[in-house]
Amino acid sequence: PFAVHLSGTKYGCGVGGCGACTVMLSTYDPIAKKIRHHPANSCLLPISSLHGAAVTTVEGVGSIKNRINPIQERLAKCHGSQCGFCTPGMVMSIYALLRNHVKPSMEQIISALDGNLCRCTGYRPIIDSYASFAKQTCCQLRGTGQCCLDQEELGLIKLFILTFLKTYKSLSFPPQRIVQEQQRKTLIFCSKRTTWISPSTLKELLELKAKYPKAPLVVGNTSLGLKKNDCDAYHPVILHPLRIPEMQVFSITDDGIVIGAACCLAQLRDILMETIPKLPEEKTKIYQALLQQLRTLAGEQIRSMASLGGHVVSRGSAWDLNPILSAGKSVLNLASDGGKRQIFLNDQFLAGHKHADIEPKEVIVSVLIPYSTKDEFISAFRQADRQKNAFSIVNAGLRVLFSPGTDTIVDLSILYGGIGSTTLSARKSCEKLIGRQWNDQMLSEACKLVLEEISLPPSASGGKVEYRRTLLVSFLFRFYLEVLHGLHQMYPFRYAELSQDKMSALGMLQSGVPQGVQVYQDVDPGQSPQDPVGRPVMHQSGIKHTTGEAVYIDDIRPVDGELSLAVVTSVKAHAKIKSIDISEALQVPGVINVVTAKDVPGKNGNDEEEAFAKDKVFLALREVICVGQIICAVVAETLTQAKCGAKKVKIAYEDLQPVLTIKDAIKHNSYITKERKLEKGDIEKGFKSADKIIEGELHMGGQEHFYLETNSVLVIPRMEDKEMDVYVSTQHATDVQKLVASALNLQSNKIMCHTKRVGGAFGGKITKPSFFAVIAAVAANKTGRPVRFALERDMDMLITGGRHPFFGKYKVGFMKDGRIMAADFQCYINGGCTKDESELVIEYIVLKVDNAYNIPNLRVRGHACKTNLPSNTAFRGFGFPQAGLFVETCIVAVATKTGLPHEKVREINMYKGVNRTAFKEKFDAENLWKCWKECLVKSDYHSRKTKVEEFNRKNYWKKKGIAIIPMKFSVGFNATYFHQAGALVHIYLDGSVLVTHGGIELGQGIHTKMLQIASRELKIPLSYIHFCETSSTTVPNGKYTAGSVGTEINARAVQDACQILWKRLDPIRRKNPKGKWEDWISEAHKKSISLSATGYFKGYVTDMNWESKKGHAFPYFLYGAACSEVEIDCLTGAHKNIRTDIVMDASFSINPAIDIGQIEGAFIQGVGLYTLEEIYFSPEGEQLTLSPDTYKIPAVCDIPEQFHVYLLPNSCNSIAIYSSKGVGEAGFFLGSSVFFAIRDAVAAARKERGLPLDFTLNSPLTVERIRMACDDIFTKMVSVPFPQK
Ligand SMILES: Cc1cc2nc3c(=O)[nH]c(=O)nc-3n(C[C@H](O)[C@H](O)[C@H](O)COP(=O)(O)OP(=O)(O)OC[C@H]3O[C@@H](n4cnc5c(N)ncnc54)[C@H](O)[C@@H]3O)c2cc1C
Ligand code: FES
Ligand code: FES
Repeated sequence: PFAVHLSGTKYGCGVGGCGACTVMLSTYDPIAKKIRHHPANSCLLPISSLHGAAVTTVEGVGSIKNRINPIQERLAKCHGSQCGFCTPGMVMSIYALLRNHVKPSMEQIISALDGNLCRCTGYRPIIDSYASFAKQTCCQLRGTGQCCLDQEELGLIKLFILTFLKTYKSLSFPPQRIVQEQQRKTLIFCSKRTTWISPSTLKELLELKAKYPKAPLVVGNTSLGLKKNDCDAYHPVILHPLRIPEMQVFSITDDGIVIGAACCLAQLRDILMETIPKLPEEKTKIYQALLQQLRTLAGEQIRSMASLGGHVVSRGSAWDLNPILSAGKSVLNLASDGGKRQIFLNDQFLAGHKHADIEPKEVIVSVLIPYSTKDEFISAFRQADRQKNAFSIVNAGLRVLFSPGTDTIVDLSILYGGIGSTTLSARKSCEKLIGRQWNDQMLSEACKLVLEEISLPPSASGGKVEYRRTLLVSFLFRFYLEVLHGLHQMYPFRYAELSQDKMSALGMLQSGVPQGVQVYQDVDPGQSPQDPVGRPVMHQSGIKHTTGEAVYIDDIRPVDGELSLAVVTSVKAHAKIKSIDISEALQVPGVINVVTAKDVPGKNGNDEEEAFAKDKVFLALREVICVGQIICAVVAETLTQAKCGAKKVKIAYEDLQPVLTIKDAIKHNSYITKERKLEKGDIEKGFKSADKIIEGELHMGGQEHFYLETNSVLVIPRMEDKEMDVYVSTQHATDVQKLVASALNLQSNKIMCHTKRVGGAFGGKITKPSFFAVIAAVAANKTGRPVRFALERDMDMLITGGRHPFFGKYKVGFMKDGRIMAADFQCYINGGCTKDESELVIEYIVLKVDNAYNIPNLRVRGHACKTNLPSNTAFRGFGFPQAGLFVETCIVAVATKTGLPHEKVREINMYKGVNRTAFKEKFDAENLWKCWKECLVKSDYHSRKTKVEEFNRKNYWKKKGIAIIPMKFSVGFNATYFHQAGALVHIYLDGSVLVTHGGIELGQGIHTKMLQIASRELKIPLSYIHFCETSSTTVPNGKYTAGSVGTEINARAVQDACQILWKRLDPIRRKNPKGKWEDWISEAHKKSISLSATGYFKGYVTDMNWESKKGHAFPYFLYGAACSEVEIDCLTGAHKNIRTDIVMDASFSINPAIDIGQIEGAFIQGVGLYTLEEIYFSPEGEQLTLSPDTYKIPAVCDIPEQFHVYLLPNSCNSIAIYSSKGVGEAGFFLGSSVFFAIRDAVAAARKERGLPLDFTLNSPLTVERIRMACDDIFTKMVSVPFPQK
């Protein structure tokens, strides 16, 4: 790829989980004489597999240089990109879909995006932009009857379709490839270690397999390819059977469907979808079950690459098709040079029993999937952490065959995945049940037998033991009911229909096609059409994101002599370093050097952190204080060599006692800072006056930033004066500059930091990038060569830390009417091993914990715990998401105790009118109430609540829940100097304008808004103005871009610079009022008027005095409210987000499209924190969730089916520029409305089951927590002691 420099395709994870690397593959099938187009994850594609294929990258779809494609244009115009890092992958997924289906359905569009993650947008605008390609093209502007696409664009789409049919088809598949494929030669590719052979006949493949029995058959490489990062794992010979006709067959025989083993899972799905309607229904039961699994299995890219044969043979524990193929008695057609034979794909094959397995010389040629019969029932189930593109936690394939016309069991198969190392069968249980009637007694015995037979000891790997055991019987129960339902349908007079209660257990929850509404205020009709402020202007880099022309750090072309860097990190949470042996690493070919703490010429750490850690913090020397701490770095000619070198470094440790959890830290009195405390009123008096007092606790897990672009830096030493250029993905270039300079013992003026854009940050790139930049700079200094350091996803997740886990204890006194009289809160966060931002985070928790509630007597104490975990850091919302959830939990507890509706308790306790916070800051709650009331109306809360209750009365196994949450969000920082900002504006002689400022583009559209501001202030069109990059050479000492105020403070600086320039042009303008801008500029130059100005903003005046506990801690407040409705499946714990309505007081939005994008994106991130994202650590303190496989951020399937965002009209803010408000973070906390809606649903289930309602639900509310909270007969079955064998 470096030869052609196609850097549009992005690298986000390397394991097929994020979709950033999506390309389209086109291959010619000489037998069908067809070209097949499909999306693929290029990170898993072996280069040799591409021979004969055409690869289309985003550059081939369209570019600014040539012509952009409507897929790209539409996505950019619909504001479907923010940081843009996921965007080329999104474009490619849809492009591949449209190549196969010119008019896809909305379901196909959504499913095409299953495998693409976006951390910024919340997906809604992406879906909207592609809706225009769907069969039902017109969006009808949500019921207005008008279409959002103007005629010109509709024309473009038609043109696009025509272009597809006529031009692109032939363009992307060169005719010479077709000729090559028709020749069908054996292809052999050799590298130093591996020979790749792609035979074209089965005979040849079998000969090769006989010769190389250990050689794997690589088809999709989605199983084998995951081990590619291990430099010691390789195969001397690899066979690639994709071109063998017999392995690509599809035929319908007397016994069932035969499908070639090299067919991919997407082909299997398409074949089944086409075949099922043509067959009698009774014959298709296994096919229907397979289809159900295929809908949620992986993403479309993986489904298009992974083969049926690879799936069957690799026998992964959680593979979804094997249980059902086995239950359905599928047969494997095998071949070897010795002949052909058939074996059953049964439990013994899956268990790898020698007598039932394939021989090393054999290959699976095809799979026979038999027809079902009339008296047979087959079902498949799966439950994963996320509905789609996530491995199953448990899956199942179940089949029963009855004696004709009866419910007497003749044959029964029950298989589970996700329990052992491969699919397990409850064979013995099934045998015992043969001959039994299909009734409740049979079910209860079946549950007992299965729980005894399917072994899952409490210490089983993967954890979640009780939950997984519950799923075993919950699936069995659902199957039992499905069969009863089926029997009734077949023999309505013999078998009774299921009761409504039982019917509600049937069917898995599936999200529908999401739809959105966004409402904002139009600009004043008198505003000049040229003035872009207040208008939904497209992101300045939007088109470049979609074409892949936007450049991120790792897209910068390699520079002469560049080296790659890989780090060696601690495997111990707390230990002394006894020795570091780099000798073997230096022997690895290509390794140039190893950098340790001794190579740092200046300071090896930020003063504060270093003192805190009692050691060096950039590169550890004597002691390690967490797993993942960097000890040394290997620099080599290539990244692979650097990684191999890093593996060879040997470190000897002497273990020390680690402290890992908040509980441990409290026990050991291990804190980062002194207690932070606020008090209001008289707490003791408050408790005395209360009718009741309750106490409780809340635990919240942390959160990974999971920005799509991992931390990346490129350091280029200059030839003179020890200068260095540092290209870095950061929110805080000044910190990078300062720390690199101090590590190299240089003045800051020698270090030039450049940041064009950052592929997502969310707070995670404030303090951490300096570490990586320093290490790369030290390596560059030592070797004298440029050094590139782009972290792999697992390394980034291992090293960097994330949102602080939280533990809160509350005591709340309240009256019978719901009034809270007093509250005593103890808040703890797990800060990890160094200070980082933990002190500020705990301060913000203490300051913000009241949220929207006026608690007259309040005491809040906050503690930041010091542990041996990677140091946690800033994350969108900065403590408020934890604090807000905590106080809302208290409100729910009060509502539960008083029996009052939750929204009533909220209203009673909400701030009213002009008020003061606990730290005496004055504010007016008018807009809080406006948002709240508007949200009640817009969401139709009360009538929907009644409907939810009605639904819950009728459905025992499915419950709905609804919740409305108010929000008071404080914007900015509690110190003035944090808000300062600078800008530099140049006007060139042709009239064009270059704007620079200290803010960094993180996807939040800061530059777009700056251009809008410059356009208004200088009264020139946007097309005159350009932004180039954020650089320490143009605007020095920028504060970090964060706290929701990055845009408005830099905007003030840009405004200042523009106003200075406008004023300088005043005399010229007055002289020639009718003149053009260009004339004025030229005249000004002749008059020696400077056409360059710096602008500066001193910052909002804020302060907080922790001694007096008083302050004007935040510049202003922002209000909002959100109402969410969900449905949960009590049997599995799955939930579906039905609808969310958000009302946000964004005041006058400078760019409503960008602001709504921020609100939606933050909301979905919040939904991730509160319901999905879970970090696991080993008991030794090692983070186990290090990739998208194990750590699930929200995907397309997680957004509400109806997602409505309203910006509160007629609101103003005298503090920020143009009366705007900073909305970057506020939407995040509103994601908690989903948390509380789920809680509401769980409460409905518990109420019906007669369980206590004062239960606590910790965050995140994962499928496991939801299921286990809906306590029932099945959870009780598994809570009995584990059977001893
Ligand atoms: C990101 C991601 C998400 C996934 N999500 C899911 C999911 O949700 N559910 C699920 O069930 N699975 C999931 N998978 C797993 C996927 O189904 C399997 O990896 C896939 O089916 C393997 O097929 P392959 O062609 O890629 O195998 P390869 O990696 O090419 O080969 C795997 C093994 O099979 C052997 N083999 C292949 N074909 C034959 C043959 N014809 N005869 C004999 N041996 C053969 C090879 O020798 C090799 O050892 C996921 C995988 C990834 C990477
Ligand atoms: S980089 Fe390939 S899927 Fe993430
Ligand atoms: S825009 Fe999708 S990850 Fe940033």
